[in-house]
Amino acid sequence: MNILEFIKKSPKTELHLHIEGTLEPEQMFTLAKRNNIEIPFKNINDVKKAYNFSNLESFLKIYYEGAKVLIKEQDFFDLTWAYALKCKEDNIVHAEIFFDPQTHTDRGINFDIVINGIYKALQKAEKEFGLSFKIIMCFLRHLDEESGFKILDQAFVHKDKIYGVGLDSSEAGNPPSKFEKLFKKAAENNFITVAHAGEEGPPEYIWEALNLLNVKRIDHGVQCLKDEKLVEELSKSQIPLTVCPLSNIKLQVFNKLENHNLWKMLDKKLMVTVNSDDPAYFGGYLNKNLIEVQAALNLSKDEVKTLLVNSFKSSFLSEEKKKEWISKILSINSLLSI
Ligand code: ADE
Ligand code: ZN
Repeated sequence: MNILEFIKKSPKTELHLHIEGTLEPEQMFTLAKRNNIEIPFKNINDVKKAYNFSNLESFLKIYYEGAKVLIKEQDFFDLTWAYALKCKEDNIVHAEIFFDPQTHTDRGINFDIVINGIYKALQKAEKEFGLSFKIIMCFLRHLDEESGFKILDQAFVHKDKIYGVGLDSSEAGNPPSKFEKLFKKAAENNFITVAHAGEEGPPEYIWEALNLLNVKRIDHGVQCLKDEKLVEELSKSQIPLTVCPLSNIKLQVFNKLENHNLWKMLDKKLMVTVNSDDPAYFGGYLNKNLIEVQAALNLSKDEVKTLLVNSFKSSFLSEEKKKEWISKILSINSLLSI
């Protein structure tokens, strides 16, 4: 078995995936038609041409535009079900999925419609092919904390479906400290906390996410290497970093995959994982991220194994489940040299 087969056959977990970022152009057109929504594209080629981003901000503009086709519970169900089928294809056995309720409630869509559509599709996937999952609700950091409190209030009645809270959207100028009180309240109400930090923003934002928001994971975190003390801290604490290689290239965080710093993070023994972020916009789901980054950085089979094992270690699965999946990876890995 070669590395490529190992990546494909291994059980995997995805820890950084925005469900709105799985909206494929074809589905965008289907839903626009079904809901009678105007979109600023004539055809699918037109959409694909628009997916040329210069940074995070330029992507988010198009991403929020695309999300406007999601109106009914069935739309959120169909979106999530399509992603669940991708999980099956990529042999993803566990997914921890972000959703952005404010993107929808601010357009007059009811919170219940959003969460119920997503949750029902994931329940179906769990029942039909054993995909386990957690749902993480992200606050949009370009909005104010007050808006975050309002959405958190609405999440309480869905505590059985929502495992944790995160922080996403425009990073520059919206530091984690802006949401310290909000995250405190979420934690007091037993939501685990994660946050995007150090995607484009400075190492300082990673420190704030750790120290002020008490996060269990940092989403992205690739800017950490600019701060030696931070690297030391991340290495010591083994706080996971959910790195998204194809996203980082599409948003020009690195100019090409060969220049990605993932290998350095591995070298420094950080708890790094590979994920897909917004695969419909960035050109690939989890296997493609793993396959392309392995080739570009010439990662060894041991490094790939470490990445896959790290993802399970970094997940919110029970210790027992983590052990079970990791031993499956190791037994497949032992066939690699055959
Ligand atoms: N929302 C969706 N994708 C995101 C990303 N990569 N960074 C910040 N917010 C996002
Ligand atoms: Zn993200």
